[in-house]
Amino acid sequence: MASVVTRSARPEDAYLVHALYRATPGYFDVISIPVPTRAEVRTEIEAAERDDRRHIELILERDCPPLEDPDDCYDAVSGCWVVAYLDYKVDYPEAGDATVNLLLVHGALHDRGIGRLAVRDLERRLTGSVRRVLASIYGRNPAARRFWEGLGYEFAIDARPILDWYSKTLE
Ligand SMILES: CC(C)(COP(=O)(O)OP(=O)(O)OC[C@H]1O[C@@H](n2cnc3c(N)ncnc32)[C@H](O)[C@@H]1OP(=O)(O)O)[C@@H](O)C(=O)NCCC(=O)NCCS
Repeated sequence: MASVVTRSARPEDAYLVHALYRATPGYFDVISIPVPTRAEVRTEIEAAERDDRRHIELILERDCPPLEDPDDCYDAVSGCWVVAYLDYKVDYPEAGDATVNLLLVHGALHDRGIGRLAVRDLERRLTGSVRRVLASIYGRNPAARRFWEGLGYEFAIDARPILDWYSKTLE
């Protein structure tokens, strides 16, 4: 995959996000919560829709990804497969910032460059309107720290034990 395609998630897409969550249980172990139910996912997307600053996006792949059950991730709306989820909020915590609440790549599709492409695509879209991008990392998640550091993000705010913030200033 050379670039990513995204679309906004709508409440009726909750089943697709839920499929991603179920395929990535390790993340929920890290943050010590059960995998959210489909109803909880829908509530979250509905909450994001009411907040002009918050964006929940599906990251799509045009070719069928190498999964045991690719149908779980098939998006009939776009004719693509959903391979990752991105939740971010602009003008948060400060005006001119954007904070990634969660980037989650399907658990069977890690280390294929999807996360990197998703972040680079987000930075490109935000350049010009956002000065600083932050990533909030919940719980003890050294893999996520290494991922964000590898993309040029630096430790910014310590709110342990709940979360760390990493940040990068856009050109
Ligand atoms: C963190 C996450 C988004 C990375 O996505 P990914 O698609 O697997 O990452 P990529 O393949 O794009 O890797 C990009 C770079 O990060 C590095 N990286 C990715 N996961 C890593 C890990 N677990 N440990 C160390 N480095 C890692 C890769 O080696 C790669 O570096 P390189 O370009 O120098 O080779 C993914 O593992 C994930 O969804 N984790 C669960 C949710 C989570 O923790 N999200 C982060 C909090 S916002």
